[in-house]
This record gives sequence, structure tokens and C-alpha cells, in this order.
Amino acid sequence: MKKKIALIVILVILIIIQFFPASKNQSTELLASDITKVTTVPDDVLQVLKVACYDCHSNNTVYPWYNNIQPVAWWLNRHVEEGKEHLNFSSFGAYTAEKAAKKIRGIAREVEKGDMPLTSYTLIHRNAVLNETQKQAVINWTKSAVIAGVAH
Ligand code: HEC
Repeated sequence: MKKKIALIVILVILIIIQFFPASKNQSTELLASDITKVTTVPDDVLQVLKVACYDCHSNNTVYPWYNNIQPVAWWLNRHVEEGKEHLNFSSFGAYTAEKAAKKIRGIAREVEKGDMPLTSYTLIHRNAVLNETQKQAVINWTKSAVIAGVAH
């Protein structure tokens, strides 16, 4: 009997939380601070960033269908918020030169080590698994990237 009540309580909670959707990170506006506006990003590199990084590191996330289900959407939203806090390609131009240079080095480091994109992401987004050519393209770009006129 107790088990049954517990199950019903859980079910009711699951139903109730469906009425509290997470806010969505979706903007189609290309800000003046967008990375593509402050430095040259070759097409192949931009393609990698869009497919493998933008969902968490830009102002525009392409959501999967299960983002309509709670608590999944909250969990995804937290990842996006956290990812953007650390690095946001949409507002890259607003970073100080020092911060931008640090982030650029961070991108090379994370991609080289294979720590980004996150494994929890590539498990589902198989097209975000980077091959050696893609990794090398990103790493080479980080070496050549000139952010807001500051070479490093
Ligand atoms: C599923 C979401 C997600 C994806 C996709 C993702 N990241 Fe991240 N990234 C995060 C989160 C969350 C953090 C902060 C916590 C951490 O470091 O694990 C982070 C941190 C970082 C940092 C550290 C920033 C700092 O504080 O210096 C860099 C650099 C980075 N990511 C680069 C990338 C690159 C490049 C890609 C694509 C190849 C990528 N990330 C894809 C979620 C993501």
C-alpha cells in the first residue's frame, strides 16, 4: 500500500512539473559581438563550432524533442547556462582581449584533450563527435585567430 502511494505521489509530481517549462536559449539575431564579427572563422571551423559547440556556447540552441519533457529540459537548460557562462561565441567580442585570448587557448586545449564537446552530449549527438581533421582545423584556427585586433 505504501509503495502504491509513493508511486502515485511521484506520478503526480511528474505531471505537475510538466507545467513549468524551462526557458529557451533561442535567438536568431547575429550580435555585433558574435565571434564571426570579431575575427575570421573559416567555413570548416565554423561548421564544427555550430555542430559541436553552439548548443551550449552560443545564444542559439537547437533543442531535441525530449526538451519538452521535465525534468530533462531543466537539466539541459542548466548545461546551456553553465556552458554560456564559461564561453559564449555569440558575445565573444564583448570579452576583454585578455579573456578572449584565454578562451581561445581553452578551446584548443579542450578540443585537443577531447574534453569538449561533453560526452553526455556526444552520446546522443553522434555528429558532434570530432574526427582528427576537424580537431586539427579548430586547433590551427585557434593559433591564427586574431580577436578584436589582439594577436597572441
Ligand atoms: C552539452 C553542452 C556543451 C557542449 C556541446 C560543449 N560544451 Fe564546452 N562547456 C560546457 C560546460 C557545461 C562547461 C563548463 C564546465 C566544464 O568545464 O565542464 C564548458 C566549458 C568549456 C570551456 C572552458 C571555458 C573556460 O572557462 O575557460 C571551453 C574552452 C569549452 N567548453 C569549449 C567547447 C568547445 C570548443 C566545444 C565544441 C567543440 C564545446 N565546448 C562543446 C558545455 C558544453
